[in-house]
Amino acid sequence: MGAARQLMHLPRCQVAGRAAGTRMGTWPDEPFPGGGVPGRRGRKPRIRERADATDHGVLQGTAMAAKGGWIMHAEERDGPGGHVPVMLDRVLEILGPALAAPGAVCVDANLGLGGHAEALLAAHPGLRLIGIDRDPAAIERSTGRLAPYARRATLVRAVSDELPEVLARLGVDEVHGALFDLGVSSPQLDEAARGFAYSYDAPLDMRMDPGQELTAESVVNSYSEGELTRILRDYGEERFAARVARSLVRERAAVPITTTKRLAEIVRAAIPAATRRTGGNPAKRTFQALRIEVNGELIALERALPAALDALAVGGRVVVLSYHSLEDRLAKQVLVARTRDTSPPGLPVPLPAHRPWFRLLTRGAELPDEDELARNPRAASARLRAAERIRERE
Ligand SMILES: C[S@@+](CC[C@H](N)C(=O)[O-])C[C@H]1O[C@@H](n2cnc3c(N)ncnc32)[C@H](O)[C@@H]1O
Repeated sequence: MGAARQLMHLPRCQVAGRAAGTRMGTWPDEPFPGGGVPGRRGRKPRIRERADATDHGVLQGTAMAAKGGWIMHAEERDGPGGHVPVMLDRVLEILGPALAAPGAVCVDANLGLGGHAEALLAAHPGLRLIGIDRDPAAIERSTGRLAPYARRATLVRAVSDELPEVLARLGVDEVHGALFDLGVSSPQLDEAARGFAYSYDAPLDMRMDPGQELTAESVVNSYSEGELTRILRDYGEERFAARVARSLVRERAAVPITTTKRLAEIVRAAIPAATRRTGGNPAKRTFQALRIEVNGELIALERALPAALDALAVGGRVVVLSYHSLEDRLAKQVLVARTRDTSPPGLPVPLPAHRPWFRLLTRGAELPDEDELARNPRAASARLRAAERIRERE
């Protein structure tokens, strides 16, 4: 509890926790040219050209194949529960024109199970992919899945907003595609012990990076009532944020709240009975809010998306898949701001220097179609936005 209280006084980005620092792995025979810049806040990203098969979060060099590090099982390829990348055809269609040329580079800022990454590598034989994920288990799974593309893929354990440091370390000046498939992955939700799901009883954890300090348990048991109210209202869009926060503070005074089941029960009891009967599990919004807080999700997106846009070459394209209105609103704001002419109002003609840097490739947010929803109900909340750079970077 003491440690968690101290965390509350740190800036948000540190509260969200950056446990292990950036880690990268490249195949020794065909690496990106190395850079060597220090990581943010003076941290030097941890680079290993080779790693043994047990070192999570680092790609394994070709020599490791013999040790069995790359052996793929069918269920791993599809992912637990038959993971299907969301809006895959549309992602391929939009990014395709930007990635066709040999040597094109695409950043997948949310590698997850590597589903989108695998399809992009398969579709573009000249493509080099940089895959980023903060979850070491995601890096490990994708390392297996992407083994057939080992020479063209570099997987990095990092938070997406460390993108500028990652690119600098790899000696990459510009990229031609960037993909953000935000939020949690199927294994994170399905592995009960990770504490993301209200449908299982598990320790209140919710960390994407298990090495970071802040957990959902520390948020629930140490944040003030006011802070809890703000998080539930802003990140969960919970109408009854103040009531839920009050209940949490009352209940934790008796016994600390340490499990998903107890949290879900307290939230349920705090929501008025009439509302409880509508709109699914009443704990859903609280769990979403805590997850966003624990992982600093919106803060990371707020920095990572502009960084990706800055790195795009002319003709380069970005796709953002978001899963709740806060993410989608943020993606929209960032993309729309770059597609505006910024000439001062009232001028007879727009100033050339103020022309937009990007054009939108989607009209509003696109949704998955009926077929996809029938195959993959988890795609239901997906919203896709995309843009293309149309002017040289300065
Ligand atoms: C929806 S999944 C991606 C699924 C992936 N596109 C696929 O096809 O398998 C989201 C992934 O992004 C990761 N993630 C979420 N926020 C992140 C961040 N700020 N930095 C790095 N990884 C992040 C999560 O750990 C998770 O593995």
